[in-house]
Amino acid sequence: MTGNFQKLIIDTDAGVDDAIAIMMALAHPTTDVIAITTVNGNVDVEKVTSNVAHTLDLFETDVPIYRGCSHPLIADPVHSDGIHGSDGLGGITASLSLGERLVETEAASLALVRLAKQHAGQFTLVALGPLTNLAVAVRLDPGFVHNVKRLVLMGGAVEARGNASPAAEFNIYADPEAAAIVFGAGFPDLWMLSWEATLSHPVPWSDYDELAQLKTRRADFFRKITSHTATLLREDYGYPGFLIPDPLAAAVALNPDLIIDAQQLPVSVEIVGEHGRGLTSVDWFQQSGKPASTHIVQQLDMRQVVEMLHQTIAG
Ligand code: BDR
Ligand code: CA
Repeated sequence: MTGNFQKLIIDTDAGVDDAIAIMMALAHPTTDVIAITTVNGNVDVEKVTSNVAHTLDLFETDVPIYRGCSHPLIADPVHSDGIHGSDGLGGITASLSLGERLVETEAASLALVRLAKQHAGQFTLVALGPLTNLAVAVRLDPGFVHNVKRLVLMGGAVEARGNASPAAEFNIYADPEAAAIVFGAGFPDLWMLSWEATLSHPVPWSDYDELAQLKTRRADFFRKITSHTATLLREDYGYPGFLIPDPLAAAVALNPDLIIDAQQLPVSVEIVGEHGRGLTSVDWFQQSGKPASTHIVQQLDMRQVVEMLHQTIAG
């Protein structure tokens, strides 16, 4: 596709909310998803890759999938299958058959480097999982960061209210060394959608129920993949709505106009310490002298996000 389409590459550890984010990007009328790269995270990379394939099957699209790192750079893998189900997609994949799609043979980080050169300065990279593939790409090609027009990532706990440890958010906690490389790499336009922003932007249950009850194939998929997580969040944890970390990051990438408030500050990643490993340390009062290179998204127009979800799922 050409014209005024914006180009997107998505790096993902799909993941229920990743799958919804991918759906939003695929459904967006003026966005061309040029590739999806997969990484170990919520579940192992084989399951992640097959979850992406299921999501693409739903849209009957031939967006190429590149399988990425099966392990964090140094740490042992940690998964989040308690939230996402043992298959990473709410436990529904056993009842789905996969299409004929072939996964590309090129490794994700190599594909990221190559595609970034090919589309230099013209695409947004959306990172929805641990940052392993991106860190390897940064180390493979010193020019990589400058070829990425904009990087939007879901990750980090800016007030140290972690979900994977008391201080750390899952995507950073799962590969802190990779995150330290990415945050320190000097991406020219880096946007961060944190766990706290996720907590303050739930999809109210009334909207969630409306989306889940739409009579489309996509709504059927949405309802099935989210059912396990929704029950957990609604009944066990008592949240006021469905939490959508990765779709919020996708929404920021797809439509920056829905950002109401963001602050540009230095962010570093802590890689050592019993309590601090995986912490995203935000220099709120700019005492470090480090460049304020990360835009921390604080407030979004949630009605617009819900409307985007509606357009995605009703289609
Ligand atoms: C992040 O961790 C994963 O479980 C989700 O897919 C999201 O990317 C939220 O902390
Ligand atoms: Ca994710």
